[in-house]
Amino acid sequence: MMTLMLLPLFVFLALAADESAAQLPDGAGKDAVGKVCTECHDTSNIRKLRLSRDQWSEKIDDMVDRGAKGTDQEMMAVLDYLSKNFAPGSKIWVNTAPFSELKANLGLSNDETQALLDYRQKNGNFQQWQDLLKVAGLDGKKIEAKKDLLAF
Ligand code: HEC
Repeated sequence: MMTLMLLPLFVFLALAADESAAQLPDGAGKDAVGKVCTECHDTSNIRKLRLSRDQWSEKIDDMVDRGAKGTDQEMMAVLDYLSKNFAPGSKIWVNTAPFSELKANLGLSNDETQALLDYRQKNGNFQQWQDLLKVAGLDGKKIEAKKDLLAF
């Protein structure tokens, strides 16, 4: 009985995780991340971070201790992908970035981050950094300071 009641929740979480994996920046190893790293949580944990290769390696070891499973080849593909796409100075893909990534990497408040997401949902993709200046309640100086990090 309990299992049946929880089933929709699991299906929902699984779909949310799949969706967040699809939204990752394209590149070699993206599929491996979707397979190995979204079983327990979506990718917002990953996307908010900017780590060195050594730090990602440690993080992946951590997750293996928590139960993440993959072949050596998949784990290497995950490490390559994360250290390439979520390194210090990596781009922020503003049209797919989740709350956590926008907030942490643009230095926004919760309200500013939510305003950005609401605007994106309502108006569709941003095309260039100046478009973000149209978001009411968002400090344009913060955006301009990071404009070279933004990707579309
Ligand atoms: C077996 C379940 C499981 C899998 C699979 C898994 N994680 Fe996690 N992960 C957790 C748990 C539990 C937490 C802590 C609670 C949370 O933040 O959701 C966590 C948190 C995180 C965090 C945020 C906390 C921190 O230490 O910075 C990151 C980053 C992370 N995971 C990365 C990954 C990566 C990369 C993979 C794929 C290699 C992965 N996870 C696969 C269970 C898992």
